[in-house]
Amino acid sequence: MGEVSGGVAGGSAGAFRGGVGSDGAGPVNGAVAGRVALVTGAARGQGRAHAVALAREGADLVLCDLAADIATVPYPLGTEADLAETVALVEATGRRCISMVADVRDTAAMDAVVASGIEAFGAIDICVANAGIVAFSHFQDITDEMWDDMIAVDLTGTFKTMRAVVPHMIERRHGRIIATSSMAGRMGNPNLSHYVAAKWGIIGMVKTLAMELASRGVTVNAVCPAAVDTPMLQNPAMYSLFCPDLEAPTREDVIPRYQAMNRIGQAWLAPEEVSRAVLFLAADAASGMTGQVVEVSLGTAAGQH
Ligand SMILES: NC(=O)c1ccc[n+]([C@@H]2O[C@H](COP(=O)([O-])OP(=O)(O)OC[C@H]3O[C@@H](n4cnc5c(N)ncnc54)[C@H](O)[C@@H]3O)[C@@H](O)[C@H]2O)c1
Repeated sequence: MGEVSGGVAGGSAGAFRGGVGSDGAGPVNGAVAGRVALVTGAARGQGRAHAVALAREGADLVLCDLAADIATVPYPLGTEADLAETVALVEATGRRCISMVADVRDTAAMDAVVASGIEAFGAIDICVANAGIVAFSHFQDITDEMWDDMIAVDLTGTFKTMRAVVPHMIERRHGRIIATSSMAGRMGNPNLSHYVAAKWGIIGMVKTLAMELASRGVTVNAVCPAAVDTPMLQNPAMYSLFCPDLEAPTREDVIPRYQAMNRIGQAWLAPEEVSRAVLFLAADAASGMTGQVVEVSLGTAAGQH
């Protein structure tokens, strides 16, 4: 992966020098010391990176993941073993952690996750609504099932996660909610209508909830990553989407295509680069930012607005 400018395309946190990653390196500033953070979709990818970054900065963690596949998603999702590995990485930082298999589409499950977190640690201060899926198809070929799964997980699941913590945060007059949208929530994206609709929807929901909670000590913001080096991106189905001209494209094949999609010319972000934005928004010190859309876009946003 050495040919990828920016140096983070290797997929391991080791190539990233930023210091909040699961490589265990870097400074600890205690930005969220003593706080409790809930992270959905925590088995792997960005959810794992956010969990470890928050733990390294002093938070205890409440983690959940579906840990099962969804029929309309063309790649395997996280597993219970993945979730257990995230727990081990968090505990290795010295912080406490509980984890549950839970589906963000399930109101009772998300309410139970929040209740368990409060029971274990006394509060939930930070909510990172990160769980998501992607799938792709021409607009006219999106089936009802594909549409329903996408909206149910990426939009309704984000809603149910946030709704589960809001009463508790209002009561405590403190909270930091961070929802994962995408640069696909800032523009159109061919073959991704249902994903794009869900990710734009998250931004509308975040801005509205931010207004409702602005005077109550709870901030609500969205992060919008460009391409991120996670299993959502690194799988044969996604490679074929970006290289329709090749029979069995590989990670190496897609690198130039991803590089061409942004201004920096780096194929994709390391998950830990997104964690930096999440950590910033999760800190007590970010009290003046709410309803914001923070783009970690490899420069794509520079040409948009
Ligand atoms: N990878 C990218 O290029 C990229 C870019 C922009 C935004 N995003 C968004 O970032 C978020 C994290 O994705 P990632 O890149 O880490 O992908 P990932 O597939 O590696 O991780 C997503 C995790 O969410 C879990 N999950 C899926 N459906 C769930 C459900 N119903 N309930 C609970 N957990 C569920 C999966 O099991 C998986 O562990 C997603 O919302 C995604 O849409 C990803």
